[in-house]
Amino acid sequence: MTSEALAETSTRRYGIYRLSETDRPEFLRHLLALDRDGRRWRFGVAVSDGIIENLAKTLPLEPLSVGLIIWGELKGCAQVIRQGTSADAELAVSLGSDMRGRGWGAILVDQALALAQAKRVRRVDIQYLSGNTAMHRIARSYPGTSSSDCGEISRQVQLDLCDF
Ligand SMILES: CC(C)(COP(=O)(O)OP(=O)(O)OC[C@H]1O[C@@H](n2cnc3c(N)ncnc32)[C@H](O)[C@@H]1OP(=O)(O)O)[C@@H](O)C(=O)NCCC(=O)NCCS
Repeated sequence: MTSEALAETSTRRYGIYRLSETDRPEFLRHLLALDRDGRRWRFGVAVSDGIIENLAKTLPLEPLSVGLIIWGELKGCAQVIRQGTSADAELAVSLGSDMRGRGWGAILVDQALALAQAKRVRRVDIQYLSGNTAMHRIARSYPGTSSSDCGEISRQVQLDLCDF
């Protein structure tokens, strides 16, 4: 790790921050720490460590990802993944199991969507498995339309109708 990256990491002890490429090792560590259920909720299936290692290399962290950092450790993140240069994107979010149910997920999603709105993203698709009550409540708190197919729900959030 370069001294610059170290300095940046050491100043981020608590809070929600935009993520950058220097956070990729922490991002991988966070995803690998998800338990079986967390992986299933996040990726739709309980993916193996090997698949997570590949995904963590390719999922874009810049410019539309935010992370929750506690004691300097990445405990959760929300990513808006843009489809090319279009105004459409997808959102994915995950929190360590010890951090769930305390409002952090809702805050991370809000921050990531606000960032995306500022970058002129117009629509964000949030996909989650039916039965994921916390994600359902978060997704339904934004204006948009929902559809479901084979146990998976898709919420198309209209960012131009959101007031952050
Ligand atoms: C989905 C996830 C991000 C939600 O974050 P969270 O911090 O646990 O949720 P919050 O505490 O912000 O709660 C959001 C809402 O869900 C409700 N909620 C939270 N946990 C709940 C539970 N176990 N059962 C029922 N409702 C729950 C809260 O009361 C809140 O509702 P409200 O806004 O109407 O008051 C988190 O649980 C997670 O990381 N899950 C694994 C990955 C995942 O499911 N990703 C989604 C697909 S990309």
